[in-house]
Amino acid sequence: MTSRLRGELTVHQDPAALSAVTSRLRSAGHPVVLVPTMGALHAGHRALIRAAQAVPGARTMVSIYLNPLQFGSRHDLDRYPRSFDADLALCCEEGVELVFAPSVAAMSPPGSDTTVTPGPIGAQLEGASRAGHFAAVLTVVAKLFGIVAPDRALFGEKDYQQLVLVQRMVADLRMDVQVLGVPTVREADGLALSSRNVHLDAEARVAAVALSAALSAGARVGVQGHDAVLAAAGEVLARQPAVELDYLALRNPQLGPAPRQGPARLLLAATVGTTRLIDNVGLRLGADSNGRGAP
Ligand code: PAF
Repeated sequence: MTSRLRGELTVHQDPAALSAVTSRLRSAGHPVVLVPTMGALHAGHRALIRAAQAVPGARTMVSIYLNPLQFGSRHDLDRYPRSFDADLALCCEEGVELVFAPSVAAMSPPGSDTTVTPGPIGAQLEGASRAGHFAAVLTVVAKLFGIVAPDRALFGEKDYQQLVLVQRMVADLRMDVQVLGVPTVREADGLALSSRNVHLDAEARVAAVALSAALSAGARVGVQGHDAVLAAAGEVLARQPAVELDYLALRNPQLGPAPRQGPARLLLAATVGTTRLIDNVGLRLGADSNGRGAP
């Protein structure tokens, strides 16, 4: 089946049919903005969709594809929440007209062996704990770009390393698409929205607030420099025994070594209860524009 109509929404499953649709849209002068997702849509995805819908004259294409190759184990894949009907309802509410929901067979037909290998940053941070993860992410994103040929693609800053690596891929492989990040959406207490948050029990949900609290504590002392940022964030995490830290790292915005002074990114990953969570924040290191706080 190529497409199904749900109200104003058309769900395409066949890559070739979808390519024909987006090609017609571009010919008619409508930029195509892709919001790639794995489903289990929440308010963070809603923010991505709203950013796409705000592009003048554009048509938003939401892809819903649970890419099995980017999961470290069958257990992780099975545990990932699935809510296809609710996802379509959310898309309808946001006025999305096009959803691409291909099958695994359509995205990875037998014999499609070519993959994208990320540069060295793909083996660091998340990549150090999840071997092959970013190769699988970049490969599926490259396929989506090939099928949809979007003018723009929007990614959440919550998965900051993913955003940086997709931007690198597009630059290095000269892909003709603009990749933009959309700020992380948070609960009132600071917890970054994630499809995985459904796995937090009451105790873990309380403990998980330590992640964003640690990032805020680090960002607050940015003017005091690198060591102060890591110490402040580390102190908050150390006070919460239910948080098992994987990494806490300070980098430059492209994820190379942190500068002594200037824009930087503080990133962390931790297991809380049974759930691995990631989060990050942008900050400035060293003196502010008035010269205060120079280390
Ligand atoms: O961030 C995600 O949901 C996924 O990694 C993506 C970009 C849709 C690729 O499967």
